[in-house]
Amino acid sequence: MRIATLTSGGDCPGLNAVIRGIVRTASSEFGSTVVGYQDGWVGLMEDRRVQLYDDAAIDKILLRGGTILGTGRLHPDKFKAGIDQIKENLREAEVDALIPIGGEGTLKGAKFLADNGIPVIGVPKTIDNDVNGTDYTFGFDTAVSVATDAIDRLHTTAESHNRVMIMEVMGRHVGWIALHAGMAGGAHYTVIPEFPFDINQICKAMERRFQMGEKYGIICVAEGALPKEGTMDFKEGEEDEFGHKTFNGIGQVIGDEIHKRLGHDVRTMVLGHIQRGGTPTAFDRVLATRYGVAAARAAHRGESGKCVALHGEHIELIDLEEAVGTLKSVPLSRYATAQALFG
Ligand code: F6P
Repeated sequence: MRIATLTSGGDCPGLNAVIRGIVRTASSEFGSTVVGYQDGWVGLMEDRRVQLYDDAAIDKILLRGGTILGTGRLHPDKFKAGIDQIKENLREAEVDALIPIGGEGTLKGAKFLADNGIPVIGVPKTIDNDVNGTDYTFGFDTAVSVATDAIDRLHTTAESHNRVMIMEVMGRHVGWIALHAGMAGGAHYTVIPEFPFDINQICKAMERRFQMGEKYGIICVAEGALPKEGTMDFKEGEEDEFGHKTFNGIGQVIGDEIHKRLGHDVRTMVLGHIQRGGTPTAFDRVLATRYGVAAARAAHRGESGKCVALHGEHIELIDLEEAVGTLKSVPLSRYATAQALFG
């Protein structure tokens, strides 16, 4: 059998561990070969592929962040318009099954291919942890570790200077990273996209801290957070060429408002792509490897239109439909637990 794989969308620690899991399993359990398309869907459409060998080099990628195949984004309309080319390229390369590794957008593309008769097994990835139907996506644990370390480091400098520190982390639609890093790092307030914030509440929480003698505060803000309607001015970002919303620095806006209202010294940090770079944590390496092994096995069983997913202790297969129907957002109960520690 011949398997093809690709990585698409934003990169994520653990992608290489998935690729390694696919290549090693395909080779050692089934005697199959694996090709990798470069730069995501674009490489598939342009037929840019490399042979991936089960050798010493593939073993070494386990620890490496990013993706050895490169990644990219493609507007869904362009992708759909290229379906005949994609089919032709896969036929020419004698590919029996495709394993795309990506977030919700990539998995939508995977479903489209499966609906068009191409055998596909998806692997969910994103540091945002927002793919539906799976407990965790790999990359999330690494991002949370990086963000937590950053917040940890802010405590001493914030306290020394009696400052309010804002740490803006990734999370365009959902606030899982902010929720976990904020809690693990002992932030005094966390703001996430699922629950529009009231700036008055944030200011009250900070003020209370200063009055009680804890003369500093740390606020963890997800980049996609929004104020409650009518509570403060904020202009939302526009859409980029791939249909993704851009951001207008909500962390800075919150910081400016706190300074204006309370007069405290405020500093704002945007952690950005540091969260996505570098070597994956042990948890992410294990999860990504298990996804790769499970996806290769599913492809060899002749499954299609499915996606690997973590359910408790087990890796299972879910329909791609379930993975792409909706985003997995932070439920109120989880945010309420975080709220108990605000201020
Ligand atoms: O992978 C999702 C994500 O991490 C978002 O949280 C973030 O907004 C986005 O990627 C940024 O990606 P890029 O800068 O590559 O467009």
